[in-house]
Amino acid sequence: MILALETSCDDTCAAVVDRGRVLSNVISSQAAHHAEFGGVVPEIASRHHLELVNPIVDAALREAAVSLDDLDAVAVTRGPGLIGALLVGVSTAKALAAARRLPMIQVDHLHGHVAANFLEPDPLEPPFLCLVASGGHTLLAGVTANDGFETLGQTLDDAAGEALDKAARVLGLGYPGGPEIERLAADGNPSAYDFPVAMAREPGLDFSFSGLKTALVYAARDLTPERLHEERADLAASFQAAVVGQLTAKLKRALDDGDWPAVALGGGVAANGPLRDRVGEICAERGVPLKLVARQLCTDNAAMIGAAAECLKKEAHPAYLDWDALV
Ligand code: KG4
Ligand code: ZN
Repeated sequence: MILALETSCDDTCAAVVDRGRVLSNVISSQAAHHAEFGGVVPEIASRHHLELVNPIVDAALREAAVSLDDLDAVAVTRGPGLIGALLVGVSTAKALAAARRLPMIQVDHLHGHVAANFLEPDPLEPPFLCLVASGGHTLLAGVTANDGFETLGQTLDDAAGEALDKAARVLGLGYPGGPEIERLAADGNPSAYDFPVAMAREPGLDFSFSGLKTALVYAARDLTPERLHEERADLAASFQAAVVGQLTAKLKRALDDGDWPAVALGGGVAANGPLRDRVGEICAERGVPLKLVARQLCTDNAAMIGAAAECLKKEAHPAYLDWDALV
């Protein structure tokens, strides 16, 4: 049984995982504290993690109905992420583990997003192709073993979630932007604006979202504030369609290039309904099974860190005491 901690960005998360089963998965989002700034403020994130981490660990143990004595190991996200935020999780995990001489497991945050697919119910076994799209990263992962993945292509500039967050700011919506754009887009016409699906002509599996953001800024600049308000739903729907269009174009190309027997999604953007639907259509057309984890396992959480940890090597006490965060 593993206690896992995740504090790489603005969610303070702790979970108890036992052989793929999630016994608890507690998430305290700080989104409200960052909303007025339109994005995560690293210093504020670290301070909130410090305040929240102990109560969140207590809540995870309580919900799982276990005590620290029941644990076999403590797992923690070591990176990538915000240095101050990561350090709160790493230090807390070290203290909990060292006090009981428990082993520790360091987890890469992106491996965690992939590993959410290993959890019950219906755990997915490699090999599979995983599209990971979050606020910090966008990549296609070739997963041939449980303990890692190969990056087949990745964004050359902004992440998909970052683009959605920035678009939300242009449209005067709240943070995080992805869910806000999705909500507004439901009432809009995705063909109203012709936003570029970047990298369509480039060979390879890399992504680019910065041009798309600029296209939205230009479209918004050409409108009066009243018109911008009226057009918000159409702009949101068209922008979301361009993001989904690029993500799925590269996913299709990866499926053409490789012989992947299954497809999975990971990262906060994988909670997006239109993306899930479109990937579902693509997989159905090709007869490839698609694994979709629950939305709360797409956005940052510690259960996915526990899932990855179960596939990784444990480090015995006291070797982990000099671990640093890896940014
Ligand atoms: O994986 P995550 O929680 O944190 C990072 O590792 O970055 O991803 C957060 C990102 C944010 O950019 C947020 O706007 C986006 O995921 N997101 C969504 C949705 N829910 C969260 N994007 C599109 N549709 C959603 N429903
Ligand atoms: Zn993440």
